[in-house]
Amino acid sequence: MASRRVGIWLIGALGNVGASVALGIAALKRGLCDRTGLVTALSEFAGVDLDEPAEFVVGGHDIRNGDLATTAASVGGIRPAYAGELINTCRPDLEAWSKDIRPGCLLNCDPAALNLANRADFSRNEPVVAGIERLQSDLRSFARRHQLDQVVVINVASTEPPAAERVAQLDMADIQRAIKSNDASALPTSAWCAYAAIDVGFPYVNFTASTGADIPAIVEHAKEKRVPLAGSDAKTGETLVKTALAPMFRNRNLKVLSWVGHNILGNRDGKVLSQPDNRASKLRSKDQVLASLLGYLPQTLTTIEQIESVDDWKTAWDHVQFQGFLGVPMTMQFTWQGCDSALAAPLVLDLARLMLAAQRHSRSGPVDELAVFFKNPMGTAEHDLSRQFGRLADFARMLAVI
Ligand SMILES: NC(=O)c1ccc[n+]([C@@H]2O[C@H](COP(=O)([O-])OP(=O)(O)OC[C@H]3O[C@@H](n4cnc5c(N)ncnc54)[C@H](O)[C@@H]3O)[C@@H](O)[C@H]2O)c1
Repeated sequence: MASRRVGIWLIGALGNVGASVALGIAALKRGLCDRTGLVTALSEFAGVDLDEPAEFVVGGHDIRNGDLATTAASVGGIRPAYAGELINTCRPDLEAWSKDIRPGCLLNCDPAALNLANRADFSRNEPVVAGIERLQSDLRSFARRHQLDQVVVINVASTEPPAAERVAQLDMADIQRAIKSNDASALPTSAWCAYAAIDVGFPYVNFTASTGADIPAIVEHAKEKRVPLAGSDAKTGETLVKTALAPMFRNRNLKVLSWVGHNILGNRDGKVLSQPDNRASKLRSKDQVLASLLGYLPQTLTTIEQIESVDDWKTAWDHVQFQGFLGVPMTMQFTWQGCDSALAAPLVLDLARLMLAAQRHSRSGPVDELAVFFKNPMGTAEHDLSRQFGRLADFARMLAVI
């Protein structure tokens, strides 16, 4: 592998996913964990020049006070996900990286996120121009201070409500006008952050169901700036299983009559998602996969409820009724219990490695080969997990030969 210095900039760095990513990098660096959970550790990627996860320097934005070690220790609540000893051993890195977590963006921030904001070093009424310039200056100075050749920006901040429909109609001139006239309401917060990163030429990944870069004008801007994009809303649990199972029903010509999925989680993400507006983004991204996979839409119900005691150990119970030959009705049920952040963190590392490679290969705009990672993949309508993996393997072959 060529010698490069690379950084990962996490928007929402002090959240459970952000802290788990940082802990993972620090643990890999010390040989304290293996690469289980990393898709890019599979044999398909053996010949690809990817950056070592252990080499990433971490920085980010957040709107809360705190530090990475404290969040990492809190993941899982009363059933901590990560051993205290592991966190203590990794503490020097976690402390150093925490110093590189800068105040996040509050431009047009939704009430649920605003409720979390408690940093003293914020200006709540920051003008749009100043806000964008500040975010960009943070990114540039992170790269400069650590002498990084490349930095990937990944949005792991709280899920915001869906954007108004008019946002999709904006062109870049409208966005520039909104910046000049200090109209923060033109874009949701996540889109301002995405714009800031793309505009300075850093690859951008939206790990959440928020809008991020998913606006035609911003996608065009990314192509002009030769910046690769990926998103949105990582599939780590129930939807991952759904996109593996639905093709099975389709390929056996079994008719799915109904698919009910109840999800409970109790962490900070669950608290934000307990707000109906914020939950709407997540439900929309979870709901759309079945019609595309089956070719018809059975009756569906998807719920997400906050149950505090569950904390990060997200549990999904799915009930699927289907009909076979001679109209015989049958049922399949599954229960998924995962530690949400431990499922998410290796995928963040995969995406960071792949997006930096994509940038080196001059990719710009949505990298649709990364669809396997997302509930609502940018640039493709393919939801079938195994076909998506095939696309990813082709991408790995392409990266290996060039
Ligand atoms: N864990 C998973 O498996 C998974 C899967 C798919 C998507 N996601 C999404 O990833 C995101 C992170 O999940 P989490 O469990 O770490 O949530 P979390 O609530 O623990 O962390 C979110 C962090 O974002 C910060 N934040 C909010 N608004 C911000 C802003 N404008 N700028 C900077 N920081 C901001 C919060 O202060 C918080 O520290 C959520 O949107 C979640 O829905 C998670």
